[in-house]
Amino acid sequence: MIHVHKKECDSTQDLAASLTADSNESLLVSCEKQVKGAGQRGRKWISADQSLAPSFNARPAEIYTLTSLEMAVLAKKFIWERFKKEVLFKWPNDLYTKERKKCGGILIQGQTDRLIIGIGLNLFLRTKTAPEELKDKIAGILDHKTDIDIKESSFQFYSFVADNRLPANLIKCLWLQSCVHLNRKVKILEGGKSIEGVFMGLGNNGQCLLKTSKGLSEFYSASLIIDP
Ligand code: BTN
Repeated sequence: MIHVHKKECDSTQDLAASLTADSNESLLVSCEKQVKGAGQRGRKWISADQSLAPSFNARPAEIYTLTSLEMAVLAKKFIWERFKKEVLFKWPNDLYTKERKKCGGILIQGQTDRLIIGIGLNLFLRTKTAPEELKDKIAGILDHKTDIDIKESSFQFYSFVADNRLPANLIKCLWLQSCVHLNRKVKILEGGKSIEGVFMGLGNNGQCLLKTSKGLSEFYSASLIIDP
């Protein structure tokens, strides 16, 4: 396995994509400071003052579309073992603190048997440094800045994922146990449409099951807003 660790990097995801373009070698890219992080749906990802932002190549979950949920479950286990902090999930790929603030996100790219998986884990965030419009919505996992070896922790996370891949039935079950909006009112934004309903759980492929006034609908790729 090749581990590339940079002091500063635009996006570990972009770097991992370019480094794996012509190779099948296992690769982990991490950095001390990521300055142009890529988020879901072309959004930016802002790394906190202290954060992990590893990107690596790995095989998809047994059911390909469960990969992001699997990474969330593994990130939760890792964060508990390493930092003794609990994180929760918002569909499809967000990590939340117990206070319901976003502290992490997952980005999966590629459609082959070797995906590029990027995880942003905001460990410590000084609210002062956060963009005004996000101040109330985001948080760090830790209460205080701690002495953390980012290179070593990124490698530990990578190894944890590699050693603990999960079967499909367990992914769904563990993910739902920590979902912040199970049986709650949500709004789904998909292709310019907005649909309100109650989040009823996950289908076999990880899709969102939404109970609306018209019955049960399924969404595979969308944004979700809690308590609209
Ligand atoms: C999201 O919530 O929109 C997903 C954010 C994913 C961010 C991670 S940080 C590591 C990797 N490098 C990037 O540029 N993006 C992903």
